[in-house]
Amino acid sequence: MSRERRSDGSAGDVDYGAIGGTYSRYRQPDPVIEAQIHRALGDAKTVLNVGAGAGSYEPTHCAVTAVEPSASMRAQRPAHLTRAIDAIAENLPFEDDSFDASMASVTVHQWSDLEAGIAEMRRVTRGPVVLLVCDPAAMMDYWLADYIPEVRAVESSRFPSMERVAAAFGGKVEIEPVPVPLDCRDGFNEAYYGRPEAFLDEKARLACSSWSLVPREAVARFEAALSADLESGLWDEKYGHLRRQPFFDGPLRLVIGKGG
Ligand SMILES: C[S@@+](CC[C@H](N)C(=O)[O-])C[C@H]1O[C@@H](n2cnc3c(N)ncnc32)[C@H](O)[C@@H]1O
Repeated sequence: MSRERRSDGSAGDVDYGAIGGTYSRYRQPDPVIEAQIHRALGDAKTVLNVGAGAGSYEPTHCAVTAVEPSASMRAQRPAHLTRAIDAIAENLPFEDDSFDASMASVTVHQWSDLEAGIAEMRRVTRGPVVLLVCDPAAMMDYWLADYIPEVRAVESSRFPSMERVAAAFGGKVEIEPVPVPLDCRDGFNEAYYGRPEAFLDEKARLACSSWSLVPREAVARFEAALSADLESGLWDEKYGHLRRQPFFDGPLRLVIGKGG
């Protein structure tokens, strides 16, 4: 069952009308991750992007149809991309087998009904259904969890297990790790593994919706602790090697649901 939509149309568990205004400033598509997604889409000539937001990772070499329920996110789509249709994953307004491939990037954790959304994507897609997700089982293996376990706990409770996602595809999936580059342009929490100062920018944090779902006191404690450890050099003593580590193998995964 779909949840009630908010004033800007947001259909997930957060209100992008309230937190999404500067999303696209911090959440640009990262070219390394983009290449991996586009490889998975194969030679599709028609692609559906569900929970498309401001259009990150949408291919520009083929015909794209974008679906996005939040008006504030639709408004941030750059002019060179197609206008997004106001609809939700759980009820896609398309005929069966309408698209060669479909994609959904960091959105499934916000849907009210994962299985319904995946069934809808499978229904309207002839070929691969490609999801960029996080594996909740790998969420705590990151220094951020030492400073604010609440954010990681919220994220791991929102993302479905890889077993559940695979089951929603009837087991017909491949799951690939998605290594995050050191200069990652897409500001999700793992993007800053080697640039901890970025977490002291409130707008950068709020470009990841999980920060809006933890108590303010926890965020205030986090800011104080991280600032102090950066100033004293303790963060660098423990994790400084990450400032030079070219990739981070975190919880990011590419799920490729097979067509046919
Ligand atoms: C973190 S943003 C990701 C946006 C974009 N795909 C990207 O990679 O930057 C999550 C998006 O999912 C959308 N969303 C939430 N619930 C949805 C649903 N039930 N159906 C479709 N989209 C949904 C939100 O409005 C938001 O734009």
